[in-house]
Amino acid sequence: MKDSNFLKEMNARSVWHPMAHPADCQANPPTIVTGASGVRIKDVDGHEVVDGVGGLWNVNLGFSCQPIKDAIAAQLDQLPYYSIFRGTTNDKVIQLSEELRNFFAPDGLTRAFYTSGGSDSVETALRLARQYHKVRGEAGRTKFLSLKKGYHGTHMGGASVNGNANFRTQYEPLLPGCYHIPAPYTYRNPFNETDPEKLAQLCLQALEDEIAFQGAGTVAAFIMEPILGAGGVIPPHESFMPGVREICTKHGILLIADEVITAFGRTGSWTGSRHWGVQPDFMCTAKAITNGYFPFGAVMIAENVAETFEKDESGRAAIGHGYTYSGHPVGAAAALACLDETLKQNVPENAAVRGAELHKGLLDLQGAYGLIGDVRGGHGLMCALELVSDPATKAPIDKATINTIQEVAYQNGAMVRVSGPNIILSPPLILTEDDVNTILSALKAGFEATA
Ligand SMILES: Cc1ncc(COP(=O)(O)O)c(C=O)c1O
Repeated sequence: MKDSNFLKEMNARSVWHPMAHPADCQANPPTIVTGASGVRIKDVDGHEVVDGVGGLWNVNLGFSCQPIKDAIAAQLDQLPYYSIFRGTTNDKVIQLSEELRNFFAPDGLTRAFYTSGGSDSVETALRLARQYHKVRGEAGRTKFLSLKKGYHGTHMGGASVNGNANFRTQYEPLLPGCYHIPAPYTYRNPFNETDPEKLAQLCLQALEDEIAFQGAGTVAAFIMEPILGAGGVIPPHESFMPGVREICTKHGILLIADEVITAFGRTGSWTGSRHWGVQPDFMCTAKAITNGYFPFGAVMIAENVAETFEKDESGRAAIGHGYTYSGHPVGAAAALACLDETLKQNVPENAAVRGAELHKGLLDLQGAYGLIGDVRGGHGLMCALELVSDPATKAPIDKATINTIQEVAYQNGAMVRVSGPNIILSPPLILTEDDVNTILSALKAGFEATA
């Protein structure tokens, strides 16, 4: 390996980093991570911290999950690649599909379409949703509805249903026919409603209103995260997703659950949809499906949607969609081992307990530091702090202050993620109570530094 001087010298010189300004990366080079074990990462200077980000919401089982590493290595020896486009398949993908079918049976999802990651999964679900209606003879159903603040990756379709201007403005025009309704975000919303249940009802009314305005017969699908993640961890009231399901069913609109971060235990339930007692028509998964060790994803498909495609005799159900790496045997082998470990370790249980501890600790911090305008969490290991410069006006925090908090937290033992005014926490689901305390004390040090 090149020495650390070389790495520091060349850091961000010839790489453009996602979600960053190239000039800012050159001026403030990113942390060079060179190793990891358990829930800890180590940088080029040997500094070791708890990873409060969990890779990027994906390393749910930590960095030392040997069975997944072994499965990847063995698969590379046995069959490193073969396509599953029409005419060929591989043993691992057949096996995985049966395991996923069992795993997702309580969600009513019985078929898998494989992808290389979350954005691919979203794109797949959007495309198959339109196709479903065409197969059924309702070709006019092409529009998509989604939530403001929602995050659905960065492909052109995903960006079009995204609910955050940062991922949209510089890339417009986006896909026509995509419309957004207010998110059930109690801290800031156009209704000035702070009661979560009342707000959920208002957002559902907005959805009904938008459907009436567009015409139900023009809408293909509604896509939502069961708990909004990248947009700042926004858990809706428990009535919200069931309410969305009811409205979608009433109007013949498909419900796509974007569970790229919530599937496989993060919310304290096995899936976010199950957390709210909802069965979606499509579920987008990726990330933790291989513990982040291999780029892979699966769109799970409900039985009724599957039947519509499978019983088609018109030819319209032939799928004109897919990726070279759909059903990659190494990804499938990784996912098989990962699912096995995830089930053995019963990760939602620990996610719920540790998540409650983390949430409580963050609420305690809010009591001590006025910069913390809102604390969100309470559903497994996904929490956020929304920082403000003045709690009375909710004026957003300045970049320098939030960056200082992150930097000092890092020096004090925890990597945390800054996204706009939010500090987002999505650690591995195998976190211990000590690790939770490390994250909290590191954050405290960060806030102290600004006091
Ligand atoms: C809910 C959701 N959907 C889609 C994506 C996009 O996934 P990827 O970055 O793997 O393309 C993400 C990524 O964080 C996500 O959180």
